[in-house]
Amino acid sequence: MAADGRGGDQAVSARAAEAAPDGALLVVRDLHAGYGGQEVLRGITLCVRPGEVVCVIGPNGAGKSTLLKTIFGFLRATRGAITFDGVSLLGRRPPEILRSGITYVPQGISTLPNLSVDDNLRLAAYVRRDRQVRDDIERLLDAFPALRARRRLRARTLSGGERRILEVARVLLLDPRLVLLDEPTIGLSGAAVEFIYEKIGEFRRRGLAVLLVEQNARTALRHSQRAYVLEQGRVRFEGGGEEILQHPEVRRAYLGGRA
Ligand SMILES: Nc1ncnc2c1ncn2[C@@H]1O[C@H](COP(=O)(O)OP(=O)(O)OP(=O)(O)O)[C@@H](O)[C@H]1O
Ligand SMILES: [Mg+2]
Repeated sequence: MAADGRGGDQAVSARAAEAAPDGALLVVRDLHAGYGGQEVLRGITLCVRPGEVVCVIGPNGAGKSTLLKTIFGFLRATRGAITFDGVSLLGRRPPEILRSGITYVPQGISTLPNLSVDDNLRLAAYVRRDRQVRDDIERLLDAFPALRARRRLRARTLSGGERRILEVARVLLLDPRLVLLDEPTIGLSGAAVEFIYEKIGEFRRRGLAVLLVEQNARTALRHSQRAYVLEQGRVRFEGGGEEILQHPEVRRAYLGGRA
């Protein structure tokens, strides 16, 4: 485990930033971004490989959502690099980033409340240009039986958990190579949380890469291959999911110190 980018040794962090991690799909190097004049991300370096769930945890205001927004092009980086499959994402806008194979589920609810479950899925598939969409929706509804049972209902009549599941289903329908998920399990029951992680696991085993922000750190770490702990816009710790889960300082600060 290594502390990263904590001011000080610029030369060391610059060298680390140059080494392209093996097989990484998403590479973020020395990323700086913020709002107006206020810098929120202060030199973030991380990567995600295909078939990997990577989780980002950290206190409120650490910059986790800002990181995902910047990767997806909603916010402009002021310094650093973001590459996806070797191609720079800097200066690209969200629709272009979406077409390149990245999907994003922002924090909070993003389904369209007055459309049916079916229409929410069809709308999500709108950016796809192939004719497989109907078949894919059927397959997806097989994987998410709660949605099949409610496919003609308006999204606003779903429970919070069902809506969250619809959101995750929507992004998977786009057949992305990388999914950015901002707190997908917040407010959900234990069973719904497990269900979402089970689905993320299935897609991961088929090669999907997932960058996941979570408040529910303990559960997220258990389901992640690797993790980064953000503090005040910097990576404070990084390591394997289990390794971070066991790290005494992380446990004290973020996991309530319990097993
Ligand atoms: N649209 C915005 N305009 C100005 N400042 C913002 C904006 N969004 C976030 N910030 C600020 O940026 C900082 C990081 O916010 P961010 O939402 O990235 O944190 P977070 O780690 O996702 O927190 P949480 O766990 O509460 O979701 C905070 O200080 C926040 O006030
Ligand atoms: Mg957030």
